[in-house]
Amino acid sequence: MTNSEIKATLSFSDGSPSLEMPIYKGTVGPDVIDIRKLYATTGMFTYDPGFMSTAACNSSITYIDGDKGELLYRGYPIEQLAVNGGDFLETCYLLLNGELPNAVEKEKFVATVTNHTMVHEQMQFFFRGFRRDAHPMSVLVGTVGALASFYHDSLDINDPHHREVSAIRLIAKMPTLVAMAYKYSIGQPFVYPRNDLSYSANFMHMMFSTPCAPYKTNEVLVRALDRILILHADHEQNASTSTVRLAGSSGANPFACIAAGIACLWGPAHGGANEAALSMLEEIGSVDHIPEFIRQVKDKNSGVKLMGFGHRVYKNYDPRAKLMRETCYEVLQELGLQDDPLFKLAMALEKIALEDEYFVSRKLYPNVDFYSGIVQRALGIPTSLFTGIFALARTVGWIAQWKEMISDPEQKIGRPRQLFVGSQTRDVQPIEKR
Ligand code: CMC
Repeated sequence: MTNSEIKATLSFSDGSPSLEMPIYKGTVGPDVIDIRKLYATTGMFTYDPGFMSTAACNSSITYIDGDKGELLYRGYPIEQLAVNGGDFLETCYLLLNGELPNAVEKEKFVATVTNHTMVHEQMQFFFRGFRRDAHPMSVLVGTVGALASFYHDSLDINDPHHREVSAIRLIAKMPTLVAMAYKYSIGQPFVYPRNDLSYSANFMHMMFSTPCAPYKTNEVLVRALDRILILHADHEQNASTSTVRLAGSSGANPFACIAAGIACLWGPAHGGANEAALSMLEEIGSVDHIPEFIRQVKDKNSGVKLMGFGHRVYKNYDPRAKLMRETCYEVLQELGLQDDPLFKLAMALEKIALEDEYFVSRKLYPNVDFYSGIVQRALGIPTSLFTGIFALARTVGWIAQWKEMISDPEQKIGRPRQLFVGSQTRDVQPIEKR
């Protein structure tokens, strides 16, 4: 962050003194006006619900240009990382450390993560406390938060080594917890991780093996899962990441912060969108029902949205959606599901929406979740677990952002202010007079 030559001046129509504010330049992207002295000088706050124009921090992890449809992790375009950037753990290393690993660094990192994949044996008692039909996100909020009770040796957030160990633990144990949530929901025994498998292959093993039959690894499907993880690994200061940062700003431990991120991700406008997109397709049912559905979407009073379409930042296209669409075709081809009715319905809906004036004028394009639900369904992942897979992928982004925040000398506890529109001071009346 460097100072710009230009300064911003805020003036008032009532003749109050104006305020000059510094402007900082990022490496790329919009400059920011430093308003930190605004309240002390003028007694006013800024008003920006939804943070439409507010940079809450400086960061060197992920950059998005919504108009260009560009997503960079540490400067590398997502298209290159997804195609030539190695597996998900290479992306994890990049997000955490700022550089792609060389062969020796990669080997060491993979070994470290692999050696932390088991969870404390007592964790299974937490799972057993849940109803079998509990939503996996509720189970994950609880069990990830509970990890803090087991790993006291890495909770000192002021110790860089503790932060590193917690980061590795979270990345390593998330697949185990997500798979345990699934196994519990279907009444099958938990499956322990296998250290001879890759991160994604091991996850599929824990999901789909049983004591009676091992899961046979399919390279195309493992690659597809790996791509889902890479595409969802980080996404700048989105709602769940900001939640993690805000929770962490008070000094909360990393397991609690990630549990807070999972809670936020659960919402249908964020991580719940892939689950909602698939449920929407199932509800529409057939291509003939699309026009009626589109009519409802356009009716503001219906409350119906085209899930998997639109994005707060991407107003041209979502680069992740393009890559996910490719993977979608690959997986359906591999499994001989090209004629899957749900996929055909999705393609018809996508075509109609992309040509419709309502969507075109509002710059609404398919986002990554429009396709990731179809891919996950083809991989055999149940709909209710889709957001859990998103949480698994995003854990590395959350923890990288959390680590960056803790080591930022400008870090302060997050404390937004408000425009108060409630009652002025008034006196409490005795009950008979109210
Ligand atoms: N279906 C129908 N209309 C929509 C949709 C949609 N999916 N998204 C936006 N609009 C309309 C909205 O009603 C508004 O219309 P008008 O100008 O007439 O009032 C206009 O488009 C602008 O929308 P907005 O609400 O100002 O956009 P936003 O930036 O606040 O919302 C969003 C972004 C992602 C919350 C929203 O597009 C949405 O709810 N999409 C569906 C849910 C979804 O797919 N979410 C996944 C996002 S990608 C995964 C992630 O990064 O978490």
